[in-house]
Amino acid sequence: MTASNDPLLQPYQLKHLTLKNRIMSTAHEPAYSEEGMPTDRYRLYHLEKAKGGIALTMTAGSAVVSPDSPPAFGNLHAYRDEIVPWLKKLADDCHEYGTAVMIQLTHLGRRTGWNRGDWLPVLAPSPIREPAHRAFPKEAEEWDIERIVADYASAAQRMQAAGLDGIEFEAYGHLMDGFWSPATNRRDDEFGGSLENRMRFSTIVTEAVRKVVGPDFIVGIRLVADEDWEKGLSREEGVEIASRLARSGTIDFLNIIRGHIDHDASLNKVIPIQGMPASPHLDFAGEVRAATKFPVFHAARISDVATARHAIAEGKLDMVGMTRAHIADPHIVKKIMAGEEARIRPCVGATYCLDRIYEGGEALCIHNAATSREAEIPHDIAKAKVLRKAVVIGAGPAGLEAARVLAERGHKVDVLEATSQAGGQVNLLTRNPRRKEMVGIIDWRLSELERLGVNIHYDVYAGADDVLAFEPDLVIVATGGIAQSPELDAGEELVTSSWDILAGAIKPEGSVLLFDDNGGHQGMSAAEVIANAGAELELVSPERFFAPEMGGMNHVPYAKTFAERNVRVTINTRLKSVRRDGNSLVATLGSDFSETTATERRVSQVVVEHGTMANADLYLELKPMSRNLGAVNYDALIRRQPPLPVRNDEGRFDLIRIGDAVSSRNIHAAIHDALRYCSLL
Ligand SMILES: Cc1cc2nc3c(=O)[nH]c(=O)nc-3n(C[C@H](O)[C@H](O)[C@H](O)COP(=O)(O)O)c2cc1C
Ligand code: SF4
Repeated sequence: MTASNDPLLQPYQLKHLTLKNRIMSTAHEPAYSEEGMPTDRYRLYHLEKAKGGIALTMTAGSAVVSPDSPPAFGNLHAYRDEIVPWLKKLADDCHEYGTAVMIQLTHLGRRTGWNRGDWLPVLAPSPIREPAHRAFPKEAEEWDIERIVADYASAAQRMQAAGLDGIEFEAYGHLMDGFWSPATNRRDDEFGGSLENRMRFSTIVTEAVRKVVGPDFIVGIRLVADEDWEKGLSREEGVEIASRLARSGTIDFLNIIRGHIDHDASLNKVIPIQGMPASPHLDFAGEVRAATKFPVFHAARISDVATARHAIAEGKLDMVGMTRAHIADPHIVKKIMAGEEARIRPCVGATYCLDRIYEGGEALCIHNAATSREAEIPHDIAKAKVLRKAVVIGAGPAGLEAARVLAERGHKVDVLEATSQAGGQVNLLTRNPRRKEMVGIIDWRLSELERLGVNIHYDVYAGADDVLAFEPDLVIVATGGIAQSPELDAGEELVTSSWDILAGAIKPEGSVLLFDDNGGHQGMSAAEVIANAGAELELVSPERFFAPEMGGMNHVPYAKTFAERNVRVTINTRLKSVRRDGNSLVATLGSDFSETTATERRVSQVVVEHGTMANADLYLELKPMSRNLGAVNYDALIRRQPPLPVRNDEGRFDLIRIGDAVSSRNIHAAIHDALRYCSLL
């Protein structure tokens, strides 16, 4: 297929606006804003996608139109005039690359908290609480409705003044569709009851906005056309709403959503994560397109180019959203056009990005550490001025990323790996069948290393001599860590690590107690494997809730397994000791909150998850021979200056230790370590 006949690369005419191809990034608030403003970090993030060739970037996610819609996850403040110059700069920069820029506007309704922003009460069509955000909303009064309609109109005017190409209303799980849905609208006034009444608020808003922006500004709506929920909006009514909006003359495109989002489990079906079916709502979006004969956009786990191409070629969509796919690789279109589709860094569906914003952080990609750090770390690695001979020890995520970045810099790179396979701890977590896609993190790097001519030497358990034999002037130690046990009063020798379970070295059987004080995927994955093996499992955590290091989206499949397999979850409880008693183990449990509390569990196995201990022997052996004695100038590293001081004039090479070889962290941290150091060397 060539660029001239690739369905994805054909332009799309949306009224007066020509979109240069069919690929877009749908609205997603990455929480890069500063006090509600899209400052430089925000702009550079979108600009990178524009450089990568995307046709349309929908900025914000749920930019709020009113102060009584307080930001729930770093949302932009569309109700403030100061936003205009920030957005203008963003739009101007993206336009330079021919990328259209729009923004999603909303009133969050009940999907936010009352104790944020200006501390104004949360409202909704009817006073029904959303489980996810827990605010008890008041019922919107007529003066609220008047005020919010005016807020939508003035926000839209601000967006037009900023030179954006258009806006999109958010109408799923927020205020606008809250009026549509029988689940959230119990009103008996002119805004409740019949479909016409339930659509009255959205009709007034869309008409008010169209009136102020005129015909030459794109106005679309991202709407739920089937809540897939017995008490919610039916498919029949949803498609009817879509059709009425299409006929209204106020709207230019429909961006289709299926499902409801009032708690994590339902949100998970709208935004599926790894291990769940791909493109689950694509056919439905295509049916809405056929029914309405109107421009239809859609995104939901269409993460590979082949599916995106199919969606356009089969006429299911006019514009295909590849949102997380662009967080993982903002240069998708550029690579398709260059015939380098196979080089696209895959989105592996880890959904670390989304989970972080719901936990109060900013969106980061689990395996692209340059995303959102464009101001400091480039996506395209520049060649180094001085070329070096580098040895990387360890072919886990950190080592492979280090090798990739160094090779892109032009250095000569050899990788030494102790086992016969690359992947490190990723090989453990993919033993959980649901997380198989994580192998993409490794496979993508292996194919990049092949292209770059990097040699990986397998089955080399490297000592200092093995490293020195390469006569390197740069050594990167990425040897990872090994599972460790929490400190117990007694019985550490009797426990099994979560690694042994994941690796299949120990088969779960009988009754198992799993103590997890690490709080991330490792313990949960082991728990899932144990539960699915049919063992009777109790998961014990010293925390206020289990797996606190893992976000809501990733929590869902674990919680589902635990519910279905009857896993007992015990929080606020710490494993103190283990002793053998006949064929059983007896675990003593205590409480951080009460010194007098001690209970016992008689089980077949005690499994522990307490992170890893750094595998630092090789680093310590090499350290005295190195030029920097292993030291790093953190200030320089943060300022993106050469970070390695000279501490030993006799040293023959610079030495850096990265990833879990330093301390137990996660894949993003390992890859970030590798990228931030190696892109400077
Ligand atoms: C970090 C993040 C924030 C998001 N915030 C919003 C939002 O504010 N509004 C919205 O309509 N969708 C939001 N989404 C959903 C995306 O627009 C998109 O529907 C979803 O990621 C599925 O598409 P994908 O599989 O192509 O990523 C968000 C997604 C992510 C990853
Ligand atoms: S964190 Fe995972 S889901 Fe999110 S963009 Fe990166 S690879 Fe995709």
